[in-house]
Amino acid sequence: MIALSLQNLDIFYGETQITHNINVEIKEGESFALVGESGSGKSTVLKAIAGLAPEWSGSISAFGQPRSHNIDQQFAKHCQMVFQDPYGSLHPRKTVDATLSEPLAIHGVSNQNGRVEDILVAVGLDRKFRFRYPHQLSGGQRQRVAIARALMLEPKLLLLDEPTSALDVSVQAEILNLLKRLRREQNLTFLMVTHNLPVVSFLCDRLAVMRHGRIVEIADVAELKRGALKEPYSRELMDISSAHAG
Ligand SMILES: Nc1ncnc2c1ncn2[C@@H]1O[C@H](COP(=O)(O)OP(=O)(O)OP(=O)(O)O)[C@@H](O)[C@H]1O
Ligand SMILES: [Mg+2]
Repeated sequence: MIALSLQNLDIFYGETQITHNINVEIKEGESFALVGESGSGKSTVLKAIAGLAPEWSGSISAFGQPRSHNIDQQFAKHCQMVFQDPYGSLHPRKTVDATLSEPLAIHGVSNQNGRVEDILVAVGLDRKFRFRYPHQLSGGQRQRVAIARALMLEPKLLLLDEPTSALDVSVQAEILNLLKRLRREQNLTFLMVTHNLPVVSFLCDRLAVMRHGRIVEIADVAELKRGALKEPYSRELMDISSAHAG
């Protein structure tokens, strides 16, 4: 089963074309990374899939269901996004409970109470956090809430935009482990943007390298680990990354 298919995807902000002819097929259960330099269009691709960048042409479909250009509640049930910045992405005046209940209310899901309790356990948050506000949580706890919110409707596909880059290094590994476990437990498919090639190695099966709004190479993570990416630009990225690691 194909979880996500992007065909000839061109995305625009007004007159400006940001991506060119993006073609990707991600299998159910796969974890797929988008890497590439700042401004190459990675977040824009996720936003278009999530319905946050409405000017595009080509096709976007998840589990065989094409997404429309408008608000698409059916699509949103399958596919949810987690943003880079857990400080900005949570409403400051809403408790954790209100944040997590909201998608259930919008979609008319019953047993909201039980579902909130279960998801807090799933993302490793003690029940004492349930009625706190975002400013009463650490960065890592906020990102757990953001991940929990994305999972409330039991989506099959998660779009993750640099989900750990705003966090303290010591917390990044916790969140990466959480994502790895949730993917296994809930049979999720991931499309994840990251700058960090070690994160790709840890969490992903394949990657696409983007530059100036185009995909220059799609490879298996095994090739990344062997240092065997083919395109000169991909190799440049690997060199920069290993220089930082060293
Ligand atoms: N709302 C917007 N309106 C107009 N242009 C935008 C908008 N958002 C992004 N852009 C432009 O689109 C291009 C791609 O941006 P995007 O955020 O997708 O890059 P990115 O690959 O995610 O970069 P980074 O790694 O820095 O997050 C950039 O040139 C950016 O300036
Ligand atoms: Mg981005």
